[in-house]
Amino acid sequence: MDIENLLERISAAARAETDRGAVADYIPELARIDPSQFGISVCLANGAQYSAGDAATPFSIQSISKIFSLALALGRLGDSLWHRVGREPSGYAFDSIVQLEYEKGIPRNPFINAGALVVTDAILAGSTPAETLGEMLRFIRTAADDEDIRINERVARSEKATGARNTALANYLLSYGNMHSAIELTLGTYFHQCAIEMTCEQLARSGRFLMNAPGSSLPRLISSARIRRINALMMTCGQYNGSGDFAFRVGLPGKSGVGGGILVIAPNRASIAVWSPGLNSYGNSKLGTEAMEVLAREAGWSVFG
Ligand code: DON
Repeated sequence: MDIENLLERISAAARAETDRGAVADYIPELARIDPSQFGISVCLANGAQYSAGDAATPFSIQSISKIFSLALALGRLGDSLWHRVGREPSGYAFDSIVQLEYEKGIPRNPFINAGALVVTDAILAGSTPAETLGEMLRFIRTAADDEDIRINERVARSEKATGARNTALANYLLSYGNMHSAIELTLGTYFHQCAIEMTCEQLARSGRFLMNAPGSSLPRLISSARIRRINALMMTCGQYNGSGDFAFRVGLPGKSGVGGGILVIAPNRASIAVWSPGLNSYGNSKLGTEAMEVLAREAGWSVFG
């Protein structure tokens, strides 16, 4: 397979596409992003990295940060985390509140907003938001082997200013005893982790710890058992109520963010980051999903053979 040529073809097709989806407009700073951009980057198990398009342009990783917070929370709490958050797809939008009432304050999974707030609350216990965010940035920088990964304060402030729904979710969780720190601290930490910026090149490198490549010389950040579990959750819940469609079309675990990025793992083979700011009706990158469908098919990387 000529991966360089494949990525160039995918990028050229994405550039020519006129139906690009809609940028997230509920966070004003994200509403200003130019939807004509597209980038893709692939890290292979042999250490090589290939990119095309706007792969060196930083974007807001948003919910992709939930992978890193989950890895840290499992490291800190182990399986007791699963007393506070479930492991089932939700079938509702990422910011939905209805299921929380039915399920008495235990969010369905760690990737919907309610579940991610619980995960962030779990890693915040006994630390300050600055320490928790510092730990998360250290983890990501080590994973990406790149110190130049930062939080965009403007995006964090913009999300806080329009964060009524996440505040409602946090209050709802609090009413069931599933928020342990002061909710403004948990929310502030969550808004800042979502405002971390990375390029596709950095994001693909930061995902290598989930590849579990045999004989890899990369630092091992989490155990193989945890890697398998996080990948399983990415496959079943990583694109919210679009997870079934993503598994059907791409056949790989992935995690999306409303900034238009998707991190996708081809177990033992590759870590892939794709970015296009326009979203589909599920809130996942429209062209990013389409690009992943072509890449997984042409590379033969679907976990389903
Ligand atoms: O909670 C929010 O609204 C955002 N910071 C993150 C949401 C997100 O990225 C959902 N992804 N598709």
